Amino acid sequence: MADNTKQEASGLSRRDFMRSAAVSAAGAVALAGIMQKESLAAEPAKPVAPSAAAPAAKPAALKIDDVMKAAREKLYPRCRVCPECDGVACAGEVPGMGGIGSGKSFRNNFAALQKIELNMRTFHNVNKVDTSVTIFGEKLALPVMSAATGGVTYNMGLKGKMTDAEYIDALLGGCRMAGTLGWAADGIGDPLETFQIRLNAVKKYEGKAIVTIKPKTQEEIIKRIRLIEEAGAVAFAVDIDSAGRAARALPGQTVEPKTLKQLRDLAKSTRLPFIVKGVMTVDEAKMAIDAGASGIVVSNHGGRVLDYTPGVADVLPKIAAKVKGKTVILADGTMKYGTDVLKMLALGADAVLAGRHLLRGAVGGGKEGVALLLNKMKSELIDSMVLTGTASARKVSKSIIA
Ligand SMILES: Cc1cc2nc3c(=O)[nH]c(=O)nc-3n(C[C@H](O)[C@H](O)[C@H](O)COP(=O)(O)O)c2cc1C
Repeated sequence: MADNTKQEASGLSRRDFMRSAAVSAAGAVALAGIMQKESLAAEPAKPVAPSAAAPAAKPAALKIDDVMKAAREKLYPRCRVCPECDGVACAGEVPGMGGIGSGKSFRNNFAALQKIELNMRTFHNVNKVDTSVTIFGEKLALPVMSAATGGVTYNMGLKGKMTDAEYIDALLGGCRMAGTLGWAADGIGDPLETFQIRLNAVKKYEGKAIVTIKPKTQEEIIKRIRLIEEAGAVAFAVDIDSAGRAARALPGQTVEPKTLKQLRDLAKSTRLPFIVKGVMTVDEAKMAIDAGASGIVVSNHGGRVLDYTPGVADVLPKIAAKVKGKTVILADGTMKYGTDVLKMLALGADAVLAGRHLLRGAVGGGKEGVALLLNKMKSELIDSMVLTGTASARKVSKSIIA
């Protein structure tokens, strides 16, 4: 609430600011969009033979500013593509891109991460660092994967601008280009055909993906596990924190909390690693391991399911203190910079997921946009590892936290 008061005092709320910025910049944005489309085109329609006097110009490199401008043009007003994605402007916008209710859970993710500061250390010999980690037998070039984000029409408002097939292709393809795994979503209201569209992309990228399933009935989940096995994915996850969305599920769709026995049955039903997504307490982290989960995602679903949960960075160290090394610990919530990633690793995560940030990359720049953002995070991670004396992303000391 303090955030809003500050904005009101300045006479212009962030919502209004983003709206006026978007309108006044619309012309420039449209132009940038056209230019960007051209620079993204895989092959020019008819290459003009370069003359001896004028050597062929190289296609302009994709720039993050252009990706974000194009993303804002397509996503506005669902997402204002704020300079920092902190959950203020979009509070309460679910469906949409925001956090549920007051938006406090989303803001807590951002605030919890902001509180963490790093000890800078430069008296050492760490000048080459290794950002790779191995998760479920897959070596990732950086400890960042795309989070599962779905709802191209009902969350992102992209009807007529981007299809589910284009979106998942951008997300998984961009992650593959950057040497990591992408996650595929499962919306409560998504019919099986939409799920199948995502699995087609998983197949296209040779299974280098993790697929989420909503906590539907056991029968429905197992039906989808079989499809995921067939698509050759690395692992599957159930976003158990979507259980409270039952009231909003479409007729014929059920989501439900799961008992320990039901979770065990799911783990036993397949040889694929099973990840429980949406763990926020130590006791449930232990129970997930007890149920046979190969991994957990410490996550409050980007603040989209329950209002007034703590920030992920606040609960992660408590969870890691009890279960580190016993299961793969993933975490998410407002991941954008390399330093965000390093902080989460120091707090106990083995790797992180980036949701809204890479969503913008996918919408604004397709797979090249996603890869561009991931590569920027990687280069920032390298810098911050050197400046904290961290040689490997597989072993990040808590002592780098101030
Ligand atoms: C528009 C949108 C759609 C999402 N859809 C799903 C989903 O279908 N399944 C899922 O497990 N999580 C979903 N999430 C949550 C993300 O996987 C992730 O937990 C969250 O976005 C991380 O926070 P961040 O966006 O601040 O990085 C969604 C998030 C957003 C913003």
